Amino acid sequence: MSDIINTPYTGGQSYRRPDTDERRRLLIARFARIRAVTKALAAGLTPEDCMLQSMPDASPVKWHLAHTTWFFEVFVLERADPEYVPFDRQYRYLFNSYYNAIGEQYPRPQRGLLSRPSLAEVNSYRRSIDEQVLCGISGGRWPAPLLDTIEIGLHHEQQHQELILTDIKHHFWKNPALPVYRPLPVPPPRPAPALRWLAFAGGRTSIGAATGSFSYDNERPRHDVLASPFELASRLVTNGEYTEFIEDGGYERPELWLSDGWALRQKKRWRTPLYWLYESSARAKSSFTTHKVFTLGGIRSPNANEPVCHISYFEADAYARWCKCRLPTEYEWEHMAAHSGRAGSGAFLEDGLLHPCVAKATESGVAQMLGDAWEWTCSAYLPYPGFRTSMDTALGEYNGKFMINQMVLRGGSCATSRDHVRPSYRNFFLPHSRWQFSGIRLAR
Ligand SMILES: [Fe+2]
Repeated sequence: MSDIINTPYTGGQSYRRPDTDERRRLLIARFARIRAVTKALAAGLTPEDCMLQSMPDASPVKWHLAHTTWFFEVFVLERADPEYVPFDRQYRYLFNSYYNAIGEQYPRPQRGLLSRPSLAEVNSYRRSIDEQVLCGISGGRWPAPLLDTIEIGLHHEQQHQELILTDIKHHFWKNPALPVYRPLPVPPPRPAPALRWLAFAGGRTSIGAATGSFSYDNERPRHDVLASPFELASRLVTNGEYTEFIEDGGYERPELWLSDGWALRQKKRWRTPLYWLYESSARAKSSFTTHKVFTLGGIRSPNANEPVCHISYFEADAYARWCKCRLPTEYEWEHMAAHSGRAGSGAFLEDGLLHPCVAKATESGVAQMLGDAWEWTCSAYLPYPGFRTSMDTALGEYNGKFMINQMVLRGGSCATSRDHVRPSYRNFFLPHSRWQFSGIRLAR
């Protein structure tokens, strides 16, 4: 992993909104750093790699490189200057993801057909927009709302950095040669700490982003919820624990599954998490033995102590039911995360492992609330009471319009930037999604 990605974490407080010169100086540094990380993630990939699209959900790397740039061109440069001349007029359509207020969009499932513009042209597009944005910030004449939009654009870019990794992993998985994204370090083996139950006696607790630091509109307004007494597992479910579920016929027992999940399991013939390579064995009820796992660093032997990941909501829910537990609500999860701090955090993008790690033993007992793997909650992705998008008309489409049919995930993963995620952060995916680094923390 490049040194650019290993830039030390500075606390995630970049949105202190210092005014004027200091704010501009910090924003310039942050802009340059985050844009360089994206470039570093694509370094080493061939132009052919960057065009792959293995499924409609997973976009080509080239498209991510262009779309994150499009964001700054359309939402910053066009607004800063009514006379702005676009880099290429077609890009407004080609690289618009879903913003209807901006205009029509090129169909998402066909992004892999865009052999033109070339990767070299997309890289020149990036350089041109970078220069203009940096020049605009340092010029000192852009109003505060435009600087706010740049801040959103940088968080948006960090989301796409994670997608670059999860998407290229899926693209490579579809190649029988199972290419290696890049050689990655593997931490020395260690046992996972025993699972403990962390109790909350119940009562009123506050949920949502506090003012004073950056948050998305979907994390606000902060509000109180009333929680019944609950317990949360001290760490994520491991591969070893999940294997017991499989060997007990977890994928063969409809009574454990939600109806939609069971139908999907039948249709897709799921028998393990995504990216497990396995062979049959007469020993287990489900005739299953894993012998290898596909990672961004290539094929590895499975590690029973690492968190299980790349599972759908349906699998997480079935596993929890098999354990006679359940998945946490997002309120329970946030309460525990807000009170446990960053102690025992798992791996983030900056650690360069690009694979979840074995939990660390901590004094408080709680581990991996942030990092390693996103945690499915049993909460539907819905607006908080009093939710109003704080963004303008077009940017208001960023989060709010997806508040239907999706489930909330919390905590970030080994592909998330450390300064991008926080206890109030709400990620969301459709319940069948498996290609993100998504895992399980139990509740009861
Ligand atoms: Fe986007």
